[in-house]
Amino acid sequence: MTELKKVSEMKPDEIKDAVRNAYSRVAKGTWTADEQTPSCSDASCGDSASAQTSSSCCGSQQKVKVTRVNIAEALGYDIEGMPTGATESFAGCGNPVALASLKEGEVVLDLGSGAGLDMFVASKKVGATGKVIGVDMTPAMIEKAKKNAEELGITNVDFRFGDIENMPVDDDSVDAIISNCVINLAPNKSKVFQEAYRVLRPGGRIMVSDIVLSKPLPKEVRDEVITYTGCIGGAILDEEYLAHIRNAGFVDVEITGKAGNSLYGAYSAYIAALKPK
Ligand SMILES: C[S@@+](CC[C@H](N)C(=O)[O-])C[C@H]1O[C@@H](n2cnc3c(N)ncnc32)[C@H](O)[C@@H]1O
Repeated sequence: MTELKKVSEMKPDEIKDAVRNAYSRVAKGTWTADEQTPSCSDASCGDSASAQTSSSCCGSQQKVKVTRVNIAEALGYDIEGMPTGATESFAGCGNPVALASLKEGEVVLDLGSGAGLDMFVASKKVGATGKVIGVDMTPAMIEKAKKNAEELGITNVDFRFGDIENMPVDDDSVDAIISNCVINLAPNKSKVFQEAYRVLRPGGRIMVSDIVLSKPLPKEVRDEVITYTGCIGGAILDEEYLAHIRNAGFVDVEITGKAGNSLYGAYSAYIAALKPK
């Protein structure tokens, strides 16, 4: 029972199993309103309870019932015409596609693509001559994203089951990488950025939103599985995050924006980087 273990006592594969179980439940909608649910969206909006005092991306400071759909809207997504299956399982903490300057014909890779919302927005931008690849390690998310794409009638999307620490993607084959609240969940973040560097073509770029920390987390918080799967426990210091990206070979690495503060100094950041030509 990994849920009862401390994160610091778990092996990387056990941590990934806990993450997969949590996001399987997000995909299947099998959480209940009164339990603490895994939600990276919540991490960017205050605490990790479902009904909470919202802030930053969630708008007002009133006690509101925060849903994944209204978080997406508050982050600037145009969800008109999107399948319910894509919005109800949205678990992002930013809107990276809005800032990725995607162009017609580009190949885009979404790390931890979930139910596919960012892929669908990106697919409109790259058009029929472009393509959006999504990689996710939770079968229920891949299945849901495929159903959502069928409902939309989109064909320029390619869902791949896999681990972003070992991406099922060819070398030098991608123009832009996006990711929304995922890399904090990876036990080996430097491997993720090494892989990102490998698959991007020279001159390719990264635009991710993710939870990072402005100060170290208390150990007891870092050790809770629910805090880890909720996108706070696995988050690292912002400077450490940028150092992993630079060490992989990227240049022009910067935090271009922030979307809210949360408990323990965790915040949602937009992070950009370039693979040199
Ligand atoms: C917080 S959700 C975000 C989903 C999506 N990006 C969104 O904005 O709705 C995290 C997603 O990343 C996936 N994930 C976490 N760690 C992963 C890994 N190491 N490799 C591939 N997918 C991973 C989970 O399965 C889940 O679908």
